[in-house]
Amino acid sequence: MPRYYITTPIYYVNDAPHVGHAYATVNADALARWHRLVGDEVFFLTGTDEHGQKVARAAEENGVSPEAWTDRLAPRFQDAWRDLDISNDDFIRTTEPRHRRAVQHFLGRIHDNGWITKDTYRGLYCVACEQYYAEDELLDGTLCPVHRRPVELLEEENYFFRLSAFEQRLIDWYDTHPDAVVPESKRNEALSFIKGGLRDISITRTSIAWGVPVPWDEDHVFYVWYDALVNYLTAIGYGEDPDRFAAWWPAVHHLIGKEIIRFHCVWWPAMCLAAGIDPPAHIQVHGWLLVGGEKMSKSSLNQISPGSLTAEYGVDPVRYHLLRDTPLGSDGDFSAEGMTARYNADLANTLGNLVSRVATVVGSKCEGIGPAPAPDSRLAAVAAAAVTEATAAWNAGQPHLALEATWRILRETNAELEVAEPWKADPGSAVDAVLGSALEVLRIVAVLIVAAVPATAREIWRRIGLEGSPADVVLPGALEWGGYPPGRPVEKGEPLFPRRK
Ligand code: ME8
Ligand code: MG
Repeated sequence: MPRYYITTPIYYVNDAPHVGHAYATVNADALARWHRLVGDEVFFLTGTDEHGQKVARAAEENGVSPEAWTDRLAPRFQDAWRDLDISNDDFIRTTEPRHRRAVQHFLGRIHDNGWITKDTYRGLYCVACEQYYAEDELLDGTLCPVHRRPVELLEEENYFFRLSAFEQRLIDWYDTHPDAVVPESKRNEALSFIKGGLRDISITRTSIAWGVPVPWDEDHVFYVWYDALVNYLTAIGYGEDPDRFAAWWPAVHHLIGKEIIRFHCVWWPAMCLAAGIDPPAHIQVHGWLLVGGEKMSKSSLNQISPGSLTAEYGVDPVRYHLLRDTPLGSDGDFSAEGMTARYNADLANTLGNLVSRVATVVGSKCEGIGPAPAPDSRLAAVAAAAVTEATAAWNAGQPHLALEATWRILRETNAELEVAEPWKADPGSAVDAVLGSALEVLRIVAVLIVAAVPATAREIWRRIGLEGSPADVVLPGALEWGGYPPGRPVEKGEPLFPRRK
């Protein structure tokens, strides 16, 4: 059975989750669910990044210890993901003992292999990014380019990772793994950064205590990023369960936001090489959700909580909007207007309308019992084309394209019903053929959308009289035309998506 290991970034617990985090997590969840559907063995990891100055300061500002603060904030992420129907197999917190052991083991290997040296570091640091910047990277020479806040001058005696020694090996790795980083524009960005010359990087801190201690020098803790990245290894048994680790690594799929490309696409593969393991096989970079043109972020006031949205719109409409409207790789504007427009167009008027009109007419013309699909329906070809396209898009990590193709079948089916007008015709074989084919479309669509909107897909499945779950079918057979079994009761039910103003 092929294996699919997918990860999200682990989120800082300096503040509660917002819709930007939900965007990344819902996309990873949909890909995890799709891979389970096609029969892969899946391991889906998310979690929280709990060490470092940013989190320590948040705790201090709130008058509690970092331990108490992180214990309070991590559940906010877990709760948000439960609310959004996220199917993660594990949730890692970097303050867990298993993670401390993995970090010490991993960086200990790099140290033993001779890739770590001691030196003094002076640099301009953004606490919000937990990152040093060169002067020419700053806005107006003084502000962090991501947070637009002043950077701080920091000077410390540090341990350094000899990143500069890995320049050529990284270039070679990119050459031999042309698809490792997608989209290509982000791959090029990472590669040109490498080709521009790599400096050694400071990987420890003495100025703060809130971190994983350096095993060979306990006055230091690891810099939060080198602690955080290792989470991807901790969760699959690195250093403790070699068989499990070998089963899942390096065939990982890291989904990350575009502001953390350097960490994932430069530092991380180099550190893996230095520790004697393969770099991660796939890194998929996504863009930002913007509010009024600005990145939604914890450090600005434009954050929207996922819970406030699901309370207002429902879980699946939020998931659908996040998956459908901002293609992975692009930035997208987030607004209530955009969310409502998408809800009405796709969920209320297209999917919800089809489900309810099919069930209503099966009720009035077929005594509520679903007829068989017509083998020669025009919709069979429409569905087959969309299935091919949607399947390819899901496999390529492009949920928005998969959903776009899927909605084409729904729109064609609504159009077909408007032409055939089965609600006006007398009961009989012509009406049966039209309605059976519409039910077959709903069956196929339930399978195609179950990774995106699982509760909706299960509800459609149930209403059209099918047993089990659309998540438990066998592909590709279940996506072929003709699988809807006639003779099942079809339930009318409440509108799935009442129209919104
Ligand atoms: O960077 N739009 O954590 P973080 C889309 N702890 N996605 C967004 C977003 C937005 N406006 N805002 C955040 C960190 N994200 C580190 C990661 S990994 C080893 C350590 C998503 O809390 C996006 O995926 O700042 C981004 O990369 C991630 O949240 C950063 O979350
Ligand atoms: Mg961030």
